[in-house]
Amino acid sequence: MTLEAGEEVLPTAGRPEVPAVRAMFGGIAGRYDLLNAVLSLGEDRRWRRRAAQLTRVPRGGKALDVCTGTGALARLLWRRVGPSGAVIGVDITEEMLSLAARAVPEVEFRVGDALELPVPDRAFDAVTVAFGLRNIADHQRALREVWRVLRPGGRVVILEFSTPRPFMRPLYRQYSRLVIPRMARLLLGRTGAYGYLTASISVFPGPNVVAGWLRDAGFERVAYERMTLGIVALHTGRRPG
Ligand SMILES: C[S@@+](CC[C@H](N)C(=O)[O-])C[C@H]1O[C@@H](n2cnc3c(N)ncnc32)[C@H](O)[C@@H]1O
Repeated sequence: MTLEAGEEVLPTAGRPEVPAVRAMFGGIAGRYDLLNAVLSLGEDRRWRRRAAQLTRVPRGGKALDVCTGTGALARLLWRRVGPSGAVIGVDITEEMLSLAARAVPEVEFRVGDALELPVPDRAFDAVTVAFGLRNIADHQRALREVWRVLRPGGRVVILEFSTPRPFMRPLYRQYSRLVIPRMARLLLGRTGAYGYLTASISVFPGPNVVAGWLRDAGFERVAYERMTLGIVALHTGRRPG
C-alpha cells in the first residue's frame, strides 16, 4: 500500500491489497462511470458490449459478472438472458454495489471476493470479469474460482487493459502521463486512484501471458482479441466437458 498526498490509501500495482482496493473504489464509486466514459473516450461501452456478446450466453441462461462494479456489464448480460434467465454480480466494494443495485434492479448483486465467490459450483453458463483481474493479486486463484462456478462447457470472458500496438505506445504513454491525471484532478479532485490505474496497466502482462493463465487454470479453446489498437484485450475460454 502507498500513501499519497491527502492521505489517499492506494493499492500497490501488481500486487494490490484487498483493503486498499476496496477503499480506493469506495472513494471513487460516485464518479466511476463518468470517469470511465471520459477517459476511454466513450469506447468502454463498445468493449463491454463485445464482452457480453462473446459469452454467447443464451436467452434463459445464467451469467455471473465478477468484479461487477456499478453493474454496466451485468446489465448487458441481463439483456441477453432476459427475464427467464438470471444474472448475479459480485464485488468487494459496497459503494459500487449500491450504485449497481439502483441502476440494474433486474440483477442480483452480492458482496463477495473473487477469490471465494459466494456462489455454488457449476452454476453458470458464462462468467465475465471486466477490468477486475488487474486488481487481484492472486489471479490464478481467481481463475480457478471462475472455473469452479462455470458449468462444464460454460464460457469465461475476461476484459482487461493490455499492451497497445507498438506504434500506439508513445501516444498512449503520453495520454496516461498527461491527460489521465489532469482529468482525474478535474473530475475527482485528486489523482491517486488514477495514478494506480496507469501503474497497474503498465505492470499487467500482455495477452499471451494472460492466455497462459487461462490454460493453466484448466480452460480450453483459449483465445483473445484486441480492441482499440490493443488498449484492451478480450480473453475467452471454455470449461471442458
Ligand atoms: C475497475 S472496476 C471494474 C468494474 C466493472 N467490471 C466495469 O467494467 O466497469 C474493478 C472492480 O473490481 C472490484 N474488485 C477488486 N478486487 C476484487 C475482489 N478481490 N473481489 C471482488 N471484487 C473486486 C472493485 O471493487 C471494483 O468495483
